[in-house]
Amino acid sequence: NSLLVLHGPNLNMLGKREPEIYGRNTLEDVNQALLLLAQELGVKLSCYQSNHEGDLVDAIQDAVDQHQGIVINPGAYTHTSVAIRDAISAVSIPTVEVHLSNIHQREPFRHHSYIAPVAVGQICGFGVNSYYLGLRALVHYLQNVPSD
Ligand code: DQA
Repeated sequence: NSLLVLHGPNLNMLGKREPEIYGRNTLEDVNQALLLLAQELGVKLSCYQSNHEGDLVDAIQDAVDQHQGIVINPGAYTHTSVAIRDAISAVSIPTVEVHLSNIHQREPFRHHSYIAPVAVGQICGFGVNSYYLGLRALVHYLQNVPSD
């Protein structure tokens, strides 16, 4: 299996950006750890970050025939993007939504996710561990899906 991790806007600033909320690990640290974990779980992994909604839509469309599952932290697009949600629906690739922070504990505008209804599930509030738990959950999910 080959899986894709997508990071949305401002996640390139991880480690520098509001570290009291998002922690001190950089995006590089997170991607390195994800690649190691993928190796351990026996899957291939690609990681991609973009600040642009359309680029993320392109990456989701391009995942067809390349990747069997997606872990996505859509960042602020979680709360605004019908386009990213529609792309996930369009490709029907099992997708796990992750967030560093517990979005349900924060400002009301972060409580709603356009992505959640089209995701296999959502993991939030565990800092960088949300990504690692998300990857584990996705691999587990894919192993249990009958491939008809
Ligand atoms: C985030 C939560 C979003 O509300 C926020 O806009 C982000 C990061 C998280 O990982 O906690 O950019 O997705």
